[in-house]
Order: sequence, then C-alpha cells, then structure tokens
Amino acid sequence: MKIIVARSAGFCFGVNRAIEMVNGLLGKGKKVCTLGPIIHNPQTLAQLEARGVKIVESPDEVPPDATIVIRSHGVPNTVQDAILARKIDCVDATCPFVAKIHKIVSNAASEGRTVLIAGDCSHPEVQGIKGHCSGNCYVFKNAEELRNILQNIPHDNKNAPCVVAQTTFSVSEWENCLKIIKRVYTNATIFDTICNATAMRQSEAASLSRCCDAMIVIGGRQSSNTAKLRDVCGKNCNTYLIETADELPLAALKGAECIGITAGASTPASIIKEVLDTMSEINEGAGQNLTENNAEGN
Ligand code: F3S
Repeated sequence: MKIIVARSAGFCFGVNRAIEMVNGLLGKGKKVCTLGPIIHNPQTLAQLEARGVKIVESPDEVPPDATIVIRSHGVPNTVQDAILARKIDCVDATCPFVAKIHKIVSNAASEGRTVLIAGDCSHPEVQGIKGHCSGNCYVFKNAEELRNILQNIPHDNKNAPCVVAQTTFSVSEWENCLKIIKRVYTNATIFDTICNATAMRQSEAASLSRCCDAMIVIGGRQSSNTAKLRDVCGKNCNTYLIETADELPLAALKGAECIGITAGASTPASIIKEVLDTMSEINEGAGQNLTENNAEGN
C-alpha cells in the first residue's frame, strides 16, 4: 500500500498564529478566555482546557483579571465594542486575511453599496464579516441562493454590489457564482478573498484524490474547511473524515493500493503523525511507500 500525504495538510498561517498567541499568554502566566473555540479541533481544545484556557460565548463572561482572545475567524464590530466597554485585556488573533475582508465590506457599506458574501451564514467568520457591514448585506452559499437574492435587489450598474467570499469558500462554487453576478452587473466590485491556503489545500486534495483509491481527511467534524476537503475528495474516490487515528476505517481501507492523506487548517501536526504511524504499523513495509505529495497531480 502506498500512502501519500498532501503537502498542504495541517495548520494554516492564521490558525498557527492564533494558537501561538494563546500559548504566548499562557507562557506569561495570564488567565486566558477565548471567545468561542480557538480552533475546530477537539484534541487541541482539550489540551488548552487542561492548561486553564476557558471558552466563553460573550465578553460579559470574562473575569476582570483575564485576557480575552478573539480567534482567527474575527468578530462583528458590536463584539469589539462590548470588549472595549468592559475594559478587559484583549488579544486580537483575527487572521489578517479576514481583517482585510472586514475593511473591504466596511468601506463598501460606507459608500452605500450592497455587499454580497459568498459563505455559510451560520459560520462565525461570516457573522463577523456581516457585522462590519452597516448597510444592505446578503449571504449566499451557492448559485441557487445567489439567484434568489439577485431577484430581489436592483440590477442597475449604479447600484452594483461589492462581492467577497468567506476565506474557506469552495473555489469551484465561487467561480460558478461569479459567472452569474457578471451576467447581471458589468461593474460589480469583486474581491476574491478565498484564502490561498484554502485554495491550495482544496486543489491539492482534488488532484491527490484523483490518483488514490481512498482518501483520509483528518480534521474536526465542526470544521468547515475540513468538510469541504471531504466533499472535494469524495467526488473522486472513497473518502473518510476522521478526527484521530482511532477512527481510521481499517476494514474499508483493506485492499487499497494507494491512500492519500490530507488535513484541515486546524489539524495539529501531531495528529497527522499519529494517523501516519498507525497506518504504517498496519501496513507491512509502508515505510518504503510513505510519500509526501511533491507534484501537482501526484
Ligand atoms: Fe487565515 Fe487562511 Fe487560515 S484566512 S485563518 S490563513 S485559512
């Protein structure tokens, strides 16, 4: 059995930065509260909890001597205001790529433009982006939802919208949606805000899954970018989403000649290694066939 690990598997820049910020605070002996889970990975969350990190739903729950950490997804303006009002220490780990979207939509709204956001309405990143739009703002997660929205807003170019995407939005769905927008408006302002890390991870996962008999996608079940990787790979071969090595579907993988592995942006390297070690143990001679993906279409 050949095992190929995607190069892009694991922590992205923004998640890594957020975790380092929390570790930095803990290293200084600070009490830390994160506004929502800092990462969609239950194992990492359990480790942080064991070190005293508390997850809070609102700034109101933070003790006066603790530091609140805003996670990489970012938050709406109203939450930033609530933190300021409480006068508690705050470390903002909003990913700079997400912060850039906040600026774009905030500027567009202040010019009176309608903002269209490609993304999952219930995702905290999208909630945060919406929270920086003071004017008309609509969220769509696919072409069908976009068409419904376009039926209800003006189609003249004077009111052409500003369009952005959740950083982890599907690249292919984004392209479909842009075609529709461009048919309706000649001068919509379109910002391709899908994160490069996401785009690379998805395209590598797609090419890897095309040449494998099965794919293992490692990541939290609550992680949207992990779910997208599973969907992308699932189009090409049998794909299994697992959170830890214990969940490896060993029976289903029996007989597979080539297995690909990728992992979501919030999957620590230690868990990827555990999965690899377990697969190597069950695969006689797997050490010789363990490969890092090193070319597109590999
Ligand atoms: Fe930031 Fe991209 Fe990660 S937007 S949080 S680096 S997926």
